[in-house]
Amino acid sequence: MKDMYILGIESSCDETSVSIVKNGTKEIATVISSQIDIHKDYGGVVPEIASRHHVKNITMVLEECLEKANMKMEDVDAIAITYGPGLIGSLLIGLEAAKTLAFIYNKPLIPVHHIAGHIYANSLVKPLEFPLLAVVVSGGHTELVEMVDHYKFKKIGGTLDDAIGECYDKVARVIGLEYPGGPKLDKLAAEGEDTYKLPVPLQDDSYNFSFSGLKSAVINLAHNEEQRGQKIREADLATSFQKVAVESITSKVKKAIEEKGIKNIVVAGGVAANKGLRKAMEDVAAEYNINLTIPPMKYCTDNGTMIAAAGYYAYLDGRRADLTLNSKSQDTLK
Ligand code: KG4
Ligand code: ZN
Repeated sequence: MKDMYILGIESSCDETSVSIVKNGTKEIATVISSQIDIHKDYGGVVPEIASRHHVKNITMVLEECLEKANMKMEDVDAIAITYGPGLIGSLLIGLEAAKTLAFIYNKPLIPVHHIAGHIYANSLVKPLEFPLLAVVVSGGHTELVEMVDHYKFKKIGGTLDDAIGECYDKVARVIGLEYPGGPKLDKLAAEGEDTYKLPVPLQDDSYNFSFSGLKSAVINLAHNEEQRGQKIREADLATSFQKVAVESITSKVKKAIEEKGIKNIVVAGGVAANKGLRKAMEDVAAEYNINLTIPPMKYCTDNGTMIAAAGYYAYLDGRRADLTLNSKSQDTLK
């Protein structure tokens, strides 16, 4: 088969990103325009502001990516687009851009689920080996997904309430860290000691997770300390929280390894950037002799590269969209 160059567009939250990837595995060029500095004054992403910035950025990001790749739109074989889930106004900007390009240049349009993108970020590291377990940990998702082959997704468990990234961001805010708090909390966790006793969530027989109880426990603890006129020890609280949050993921991963004989694991989503989780997953892999892949930092948080990579395998799976494709704020991975 001839080489395939896929142009991937991602705009589901606060990153506008365009990338070109060859054969689902080789990054040719990527441009990411992040809005973190804009939203940080508000303590989180403001959807309306995010949409406006996507509108402002999308053509520049596209042009810059083509320039960086030294390619023209005519050289691209297909266009992959995150159709959902995410912020609807943000998604629509990327989608309209993708549909316009597909129409003008007569290219196939490939719909990509955002979480499929996060999973396929791993194929930029090395080819996926099946069957595998994908540990999905992001701002909006916390799931265990089994894959017997490319684009065959089976969710075996997920969070019953908050996603792990959401929990990190809320706990970070309680500790007084600026948005996005997840990475800052991770850094602080390396400086403290595990001295606070926090409840380990959902130690049951399922593959599910729960993070709202842990979040409430931290909020209550901070509140009680304040009422007693005591200052929380931020670094210690970060360390204690990170230990419990990471353990709640690895305990269910170990359960899946033991019960299902898993041999290949990939980690996916923004929280895959977490140093505590990366180390804990490496330890699990060493203990059970698992073929583990964790994307490098640049592929963990939202980017067009992972969408272009997933788009290649979606294309091989026969997935195509026409110009009636719409964005979806929520959608199951299938
Ligand atoms: O995957 P992502 O970019 O967005 C979604 O698809 O949801 O993930 C963003 C999330 C945010 O909640 C952010 O705080 C978290 O990932 N995150 C981290 C770290 N880096 C990003 N959480 C903990 N530790 C990190 N190092
Ligand atoms: Zn994401």
